[in-house]
Amino acid sequence: MTRQPGQPCPIEPSDPVQDIAHLGNIELLTPRIDLTTAYFRDLLGMEVVHAAGPSVFLRGYGDYAASTLKLTAAPRPGIGCISWRTTSPAALDRRVNAIEAAGRAGRWIDPECGRGPSFRFRDPDGHVMAIYYEEAPYRAPEHLRSTLKNLPMRYTGRGVNVRRIDHVALLSRDVAADRRFMEEVLGFRLREQVRFDRGAVEIGSWLSPSILHHQVAYVVDTRRVGGRLHHIALWVDNREDVLRAADICSEHGVFIEAGPAKHNNSQGFYLYAYEPGGNRIELYTGSFLVLAPDWRPVIWDEAERGTGVYWGGALPESFLSYATPDAAAAAPVDAARVPVFDPS
Ligand SMILES: [Fe+2]
Repeated sequence: MTRQPGQPCPIEPSDPVQDIAHLGNIELLTPRIDLTTAYFRDLLGMEVVHAAGPSVFLRGYGDYAASTLKLTAAPRPGIGCISWRTTSPAALDRRVNAIEAAGRAGRWIDPECGRGPSFRFRDPDGHVMAIYYEEAPYRAPEHLRSTLKNLPMRYTGRGVNVRRIDHVALLSRDVAADRRFMEEVLGFRLREQVRFDRGAVEIGSWLSPSILHHQVAYVVDTRRVGGRLHHIALWVDNREDVLRAADICSEHGVFIEAGPAKHNNSQGFYLYAYEPGGNRIELYTGSFLVLAPDWRPVIWDEAERGTGVYWGGALPESFLSYATPDAAAAAPVDAARVPVFDPS
């Protein structure tokens, strides 16, 4: 049927949901809040903007929001609340309704550090997530004001100099269930997927609400713990910054688990290091954007996937077995696996 001029454009049932704009904030739990804060501030070059109760709030120099990373003191390392900004207030209402219609209980959380009220819920595996719309743009204090009008904060050039948060990678006892929830309830698009046993078993799925290649990944939790973190990823401007990060980590005794090297899926250039609380941190750049609205997910089998490395050193066994909280560790943190970073 042809639409007449002046008639509203009908929403087709097949139109994609585009209610989630992007990853807005990551909360990381750490048993060593002072060392973890020093790691992100002094080594990775993020800016501390606020502290309240057990939490410290930070930002990358290119983030438009006041804070994109929240560190919270906790008995064990792991992931706290993962917050997604919606595209509008109406989009927030629609997604809240969709979450409740999907049978997932949620509750509203008070505003925090520039963000308005958020609706908090859990994904099927138990990871805590929230959606919100209101976000006050960051206003840099005088000493952090950039001479560049479109840069929210001065390029400090400190340490690794993280520009912005990029994505989270989560473990899941049922990757398909989490992937379907993100697709069907929140409107994420599937970018790439790994399926083993001739496609019968979904091992990993990479999804995004925006043109960024992925902002959340779910990979199978072989220990079936639930709600665990594989890593958070922070974006740097170029590959040279990843190489500099390797130098900086080495000079400060920070354990480098893998990289610098290049992934096959996402084509990302990476370095994986542990922060002092025990969480795995990826310093990341180079992955491709997905502009095509009719993108067809790329499916890898075990032979095509290989180790997940396009070139560079192989990923170690710990990359497959270690996550936070660590299911194998009886103590809150296995100190032998996490070299202490001395901020001095
Ligand atoms: Fe990653």
